[in-house]
Amino acid sequence: MDGLTFVYSLLFYIVINIFFIGLLLKFWKYVSTPAPLKIPQTPAPKTATGVGVRMFQEVVFFKSLFRGNRLIWLGGYIMHLGLLFVFMKHLRFFFPGTPAFVDTLVDIDLYTGFIFLSALIFLFILRLAIDRTFYVSVFNDYLLLGLLIAIATTGLLARFWDYSGTRAMIPDIKAFVGGLFTFNPGPVPSNKPFMVHFILVMMLLAYFPFSKLVHSIGIFFSPTRNQIDNTRKKRWGPWTVKNPRRSKPKEPVAVQPSFAVKEEPSDS
Ligand code: HEM
Repeated sequence: MDGLTFVYSLLFYIVINIFFIGLLLKFWKYVSTPAPLKIPQTPAPKTATGVGVRMFQEVVFFKSLFRGNRLIWLGGYIMHLGLLFVFMKHLRFFFPGTPAFVDTLVDIDLYTGFIFLSALIFLFILRLAIDRTFYVSVFNDYLLLGLLIAIATTGLLARFWDYSGTRAMIPDIKAFVGGLFTFNPGPVPSNKPFMVHFILVMMLLAYFPFSKLVHSIGIFFSPTRNQIDNTRKKRWGPWTVKNPRRSKPKEPVAVQPSFAVKEEPSDS
C-alpha cells in the first residue's frame, strides 16, 4: 500500500468511528432526556396514528417549514431531493455489484448534482437576503452550506471534468472505496477533484454528529411534534417520566453561610 492510500484509509477509519460513536452518543442523549411536560404544537393529533401521520408529513414534505416560509421550503426541499438522488447514485461506489435501478439512474440522471448545488447556493443567498433569517444565522450555518457547496462542486468536477486525462474512473473508485469496507483498499485514484471531494466528505462526516445536521435524527425526538394531545384524557406529570434516576426529586441543598457572623462586642 502506498503512503497516500495509507493516509486516506487511516483518515477514513478514524472519521467513520467519530461519526458512528458521535451519532450513538447523540441518540442516547435524545432517548434519555425526559420530556416531563406536554408541549405538542397545536393543532396536534389526538392519537398515536395521528402522530405517525404528522411525523410523515414533517419528514417527507417539511410541512412546518412550508407554513413558515415558502421560499426557504422550496430551496430546502429541492436540495434534499437532489441529495437523495445523489446518494442513490453513490451506492455504486460502495458495493461490488449495484442494483440495476442505480445503473439506470446514473444513465438517465445527468442533472441532480447541478440541481443540488444550485439549491445550496440559493439557500446561502436566502440567508443573506431575508432579514429575519440573516438575523438568526450564525457562522456555523454559513460554514456548513459552504462545505456542502464545496463537496457538490468537487463531486461534479470529478464526474464531468477530464482533469489532465485523469477523469475519475469508476472501477478505480470502486476498488478504493469498496476496498475500505473489506480492509483491502485499492490505490487512491489520482483524480484531483475526487481527492479533494473525499477529504471534504471526511470533514463533513466528522462534524456531522456535533452539528445541526443531526436534525435528521432529532426531529423524531422533538416533543412539539411527537407528542399526542391527550392531556384531557390522561393525567400527565413529572411522575410519568420513564427514567426514574432523572425524575427523582433532588435533595434540598443546605445553604451554607458564606461568612461567619461576627458577634457584637457587648458593652458590659
Ligand atoms: C465516502 C463518501 C463519498 C465518495 C467516495 C464520493 C465519491 C464521488 C465520486 C467518485 C463522484 C463522481 C461521480 C461520477 O463520476 O459519476 C462524486 C460525485 C458527487 N458527489 Fe460524492 N462521494 C462521497 C460522498 C458525498 C457526499 C456526502 C455528498 C453530499 C453531501 C456528495 C456529493 C456529490 C455530488 C453532488 C456529486 C456530483 C454527482 C452527479 O452529478 O451525479 N458526495 N462523488
